[in-house]
Amino acid sequence: MKRRQFLAGLTAFGTAPLLGAAGQGDIVLAQAGAELRGPDVIYVPTPDGVVDRMLELAQVTAKDTVYDLGSGDGRIVIAAARKYGARGVGIDIDPERIKEARANAKAAGVTDKVNFVQADLFKSDISQATVVTIYLLTDLNLKLRPKLLKELAPGTRVVSHAFGMGDWKPERTESINGYTVYLWRIPPRKE
Ligand SMILES: C[S@@+](CC[C@H](N)C(=O)[O-])C[C@H]1O[C@@H](n2cnc3c(N)ncnc32)[C@H](O)[C@@H]1O
Repeated sequence: MKRRQFLAGLTAFGTAPLLGAAGQGDIVLAQAGAELRGPDVIYVPTPDGVVDRMLELAQVTAKDTVYDLGSGDGRIVIAAARKYGARGVGIDIDPERIKEARANAKAAGVTDKVNFVQADLFKSDISQATVVTIYLLTDLNLKLRPKLLKELAPGTRVVSHAFGMGDWKPERTESINGYTVYLWRIPPRKE
């Protein structure tokens, strides 16, 4: 899906309220008592080849914990677990996506490595991530930026599909079959 098609899809999106709860035993991330609202952006999956490149760009290893913020069908954290043995957390506000992602994790045999949480990514604790992946929109990336810089440890890699971070310049930018991916690294804290 190219950026133009993605944006066109947004205009066709309705805003039905999506309510639900995380499953028993799941991590609940700063969501207690909060009513969930509709998604900020529609679901469009990242093509598998682009997922692979995002994980390569972040140099994911078995030591990593990969958080996909707006995790859709779970493909990014599932691929990180399957290919690299990384742990993963997918956060999505849409209960249907969480159901789908859990089924996909089961089919891939990685339920011991990954966890999917129904929550608002902007209200979730992401401090345990060593790699964060996103496929949102530029304005959402800009809204997320202060949270990334505040909560993530220095050195954490952030990889975005398609959308940048304004004047926070990426360390690397790559193009794969017309899709663009960006890599940033959380800088050391200022004293
Ligand atoms: C463009 S899709 C990306 C899916 C997946 N990350 C991928 O690259 O294949 C964006 C996802 O973000 C979710 N989303 C939108 N707003 C959200 C929010 N505030 N909190 C959590 N998830 C959200 C949507 O439900 C959708 O699944």
